[in-house]
Amino acid sequence: MNILAELQERFRAALAELVDDPTELLAMVRKSSEPKFGDYQANFAMALGKRLKRPPRDVAAEIVQRLQIDDLCEPPEVAGPGFINLRLKTDWLAAAATRTLASQRLGVTPAKEPRTYVVDYSSPNVAKPMHVGHIRSSVIGDSLKRTLRFLGHKVIADNHIGDWGTQFGMIIYGYKHFLDEAAYRQNAVAELGRLYKFVSRLVSYREAVRSLPEMRNRLAERRDDAAHLASVAQERSDDKGAAKAARKAEAGAKEQAAALQSLEAGIAEVESDPVLSKAAAAHPDIEKQVLEETAKLHRGDAENVSLWKEFLPACLEDIQRIYRRLDVSFDVTLGESFYNDRLPGVVNALVQRDIARESDGAMCVFLDDHKTPLVIRKQDGAFLYGTTDLATVQYRMETWHPDAMLYVVDHRQSLHFEQFFAAARLWGYDDVEMVHVSFGTVLGEDGRPFKTRSGDTVGLEGLLDEAVRRAYEVVSENDDKKPGGAEIEPERRREIAEVVGIGALKYADLSVNRTSDYTFSYDRMLALNGNTATYMQYAYARVFGSFAKGDIDVQELRASGAAIDLSHPAERALAVGLLQFFEALEAAAAEYRPNLLTTYLFDVAGAFSIFFDQCPVLKAETEELRTSRLLLCDLTARTLKQGLDLLGIKVVDKM
Ligand code: ARG
Repeated sequence: MNILAELQERFRAALAELVDDPTELLAMVRKSSEPKFGDYQANFAMALGKRLKRPPRDVAAEIVQRLQIDDLCEPPEVAGPGFINLRLKTDWLAAAATRTLASQRLGVTPAKEPRTYVVDYSSPNVAKPMHVGHIRSSVIGDSLKRTLRFLGHKVIADNHIGDWGTQFGMIIYGYKHFLDEAAYRQNAVAELGRLYKFVSRLVSYREAVRSLPEMRNRLAERRDDAAHLASVAQERSDDKGAAKAARKAEAGAKEQAAALQSLEAGIAEVESDPVLSKAAAAHPDIEKQVLEETAKLHRGDAENVSLWKEFLPACLEDIQRIYRRLDVSFDVTLGESFYNDRLPGVVNALVQRDIARESDGAMCVFLDDHKTPLVIRKQDGAFLYGTTDLATVQYRMETWHPDAMLYVVDHRQSLHFEQFFAAARLWGYDDVEMVHVSFGTVLGEDGRPFKTRSGDTVGLEGLLDEAVRRAYEVVSENDDKKPGGAEIEPERRREIAEVVGIGALKYADLSVNRTSDYTFSYDRMLALNGNTATYMQYAYARVFGSFAKGDIDVQELRASGAAIDLSHPAERALAVGLLQFFEALEAAAAEYRPNLLTTYLFDVAGAFSIFFDQCPVLKAETEELRTSRLLLCDLTARTLKQGLDLLGIKVVDKM
C-alpha cells in the first residue's frame, strides 16, 4: 500500500469541512525529515491558519480532533507552531510488512486510471559513434519507461533516431570520394565512421577558414574597445563603473583571442597533416557538396537513397550492440526518415490554419513570448528538425492517443522544445502533456565537459569497457579479501564485473538530480560505500551470503507464512523504509526523476546495514525472531532487486 497516499486521504476527510479544495495542503503531508518528528508530518496548519485567520496551533488541534487515524498511527502530536507529527503504530507496521511478503509486486497496486505515455529517449544521430552524452538520455528514459510501466501505465518507448540528417550527406560524399573498399568490406560501420570523421573535419576546416577574417576583425574591434575603455578608466581613476567596464572589455578581448587561437590551431592541424591537407585542397567546396548530397537524398535521388539504404542497417546494428549491453530497449524505432513523407503536409496544415506564414522566403510559426519564430521550411525548401517533431506529434496522437509525451533530451535543446510544444498546441494538440525531460551535461573531473585527452568526445563503448574493467578489479579485490579465501571463479568474476560495471555507470547517472550537470568519476561510481549501485548490489549479495551460511531455503521461508515482528528500533526503521517503496515510485514517476528512487534505495540499504549490524539474524535469540529477521532480509533483498530493476540495474547473488 501507499502509506503517504492513505494518510493524505485521511487528512482530506478531516479537512473537508474547513476548506473547499485541500489539494495544495495535502501536498504538505510528507515523510518526516527526522525520526524525532515521527514517521510523517503534516505541515499545512500554518498556511491554513493564515487563510482562516486563526492561530495555527488551534487549527492543528482541530484537525487532529477530526482526524480518524487511530488504526494506523499513535495519537498525533502537535509540535512547534503547528506541525502535526505522525508515528505509525508498530503493530500496524508489522502486519503491513507481513502482508507485503505475500505480494509479488511488493504492495504496489497498478494505477486505477492508467495513462498512456510515449517516451522519446536515446535518439542518437546514427552513423556517428555513440558518445558519453547519449548515456544520460538512454538510461533516464529507460528507467522512466520501466517505472511507469510497473505502476500500471501503458508506455510506448520510441527511439527517435537521427537517420536523415547532414551526417548522411557527409558519409555519402565520403563514400563517393574517399572510400577504402577493403576496409568497408571488412567492417562497414568502422569505415563509415572513419568517413564521417574525415569529411566532417574537412567541412569544419572550410568553415574555419571562411570565418577567419571575421574572427580577426572582431578581435581587432574588441582590442580597440578594451584600449579605449582602459584609457577612460585611467582618466577617471575614482570611477568604479569605468574600471569595471575596462576590465570587462579586457576579458572580452582575451576571450576573443583565445577563440581565434583555437580556430587557427584547428586550421594548422589540418594543414600540417599530409592526407587531410591534400584532400582539403582537392575539395575546396566540400561544405556545399555535402549539403547538396543531403538535399539529393531528401529529394529522392536514386543513387543516394540506395546508398542510404545500404548504410542504415549497419548503423542500426552498431547502436543495437550498445543497447544490448546496456539492457536498454524500445518498442519502436521511428527515426526522422520515417516522417519524411509527412513534412509537406505538416507545413500545409499549419499554413492553411494561419499558424505558419512566410517571412523572408521561409515558412515560420511566430510564437508569443519568443523573439525568433520556429522555422518549419527554409527558403530553399528544406524542412527542419522542428518540422519533423511536429510530424511526430501528429503521428503519435493518431497512432497511440497518448496522455503524455516525454522527450528525454539534453538541456541545450530547451528552446527547441519550448517552441515546438507551443507550435503543437497552436495546431490543436493542447490536451496532451508534452514534457521536455531535460538533463545536464556530463562533466569530467576537471569540471569541463567530459572529453578524451585529445579533446574528442568520449565514445560510449570505450566507457563501458573501462567501467567493466575497473569493476573486475573491485570484485576481485573484494573476493580475495574474504576471510575464508576467494570464492569466485575468474569466469564468474567477469560476469559479475559486467553487471557491476554497467550498473555503476547507470546508477551514477540516475542518482544525480537530472537537471544538474553530472561529474563522471569511475572511482566514485564503483565505491563499495556510498550512494552507488555497487553498495546496493553488495547489500543484496550480503543477504544471500547469510542465507547460504545459515543453509536457508528461501522458498521454504517464504512459504512458512510466519509473521514479521518489530521489537528492535532498527527492525522498525527498516520496515518503515520497505513500506515506502510505493510512494517512492510514485514520486519518481510524478516528477520524472529517477534520482528520487535511487535516494529511496540508498536509504533502505542504509537502514538494512544498521539492522544487520545491530540485530543478529542467524544467531537471533529465538526461532521466531530468527524467522522474522530472515523475512525482513528477504523483503529487503526483493525491494532492492525490484527497485534496481526499475533503474535498469541487475543484481548478483554473490560478489
Ligand atoms: N537526434 C537528436 C540529437 O541527437 C535528438 C532527438 C530527440 N528527440 C526528438 N524528438 N527531438 O540531438
